[in-house]
Amino acid sequence: MLLKLEGLRKSYPGGVTALDDVSLDLMPGEHVSLVGESGCGKTTLARVVMGLVAPDAGRVFFEGREFSSVRARRGMFCRKVRMVFQDPFTSLDPRYSVRAILGEALRLEPRMTRGEELARMRGVLALVRLPPDILARYPHEFSGGERQRIAMARALMSQPSLLILDEALSSLDVLVQQDILSVLEELPRRTGVTYLFIAHNLRAVRRLSRRVAVMRQGRIIECAGRDELFSSPSHPYTQALLKAAFNYEVSV
Ligand SMILES: Nc1ncnc2c1ncn2[C@@H]1O[C@H](COP(=O)(O)OP(=O)(O)OP(=O)(O)O)[C@@H](O)[C@H]1O
Ligand SMILES: [Mg+2]
Repeated sequence: MLLKLEGLRKSYPGGVTALDDVSLDLMPGEHVSLVGESGCGKTTLARVVMGLVAPDAGRVFFEGREFSSVRARRGMFCRKVRMVFQDPFTSLDPRYSVRAILGEALRLEPRMTRGEELARMRGVLALVRLPPDILARYPHEFSGGERQRIAMARALMSQPSLLILDEALSSLDVLVQQDILSVLEELPRRTGVTYLFIAHNLRAVRRLSRRVAVMRQGRIIECAGRDELFSSPSHPYTQALLKAAFNYEVSV
């Protein structure tokens, strides 16, 4: 088991229950998508897994070990579990060159020589299909899609086992989304990384994931294999979600 979440609960001040007894298992190589309406708790779940938010209750296991404190989870998770966020315009610090941004991701890695660092950087840029000569450039010189690839390259620097993509395609136009999806499709084979893919775009979900978890109001209400979920969703909410998504997407 790569990741095991057991009975996670999280309420925010003001009484919002963002996670209400959430359990989820992820096997290595099993790419799982998490879908559900805005505000249902997807980002909160990702932040709890990353150790950025402490849950009120529940347990997180990674590669068989329990991480009970946020601090313990952070150190290890920084390397093994990486997250790519929605907005590539705010997630990259404009003051740093691509080389510095990628180098920062090696902070917790065993020490490398300059040559090894450069080789690692060129390797991750190739994985996201960016040329190696961009290392001296700065984030503002890139398009949204390129920035999101740089954010993905940064996430890959520490050779993580799990990548959490939180709406990582949402801010990009459809053609750029297609490009990044094809990069994402190839990555597992080339790196062994497993995804938790949080998304609104159900076509992307269908293309990328073998299993889909549907969240509503802090709970996972249905979790099924992709083909099963898309052909015969059992929960009325999932049925409504699929109908809305595909009607909407067909009409644009
Ligand atoms: N820091 C916070 N303080 C208070 N309430 C919060 C905080 N973060 C999230 N919430 C609330 O918790 C609920 C779940 O939020 P969350 O961001 O996890 O949803 P989401 O599924 O990621 O939504 P979206 O699809 O819009 O990104 C929402 O009602 C939100 O308003
Ligand atoms: Mg969110």
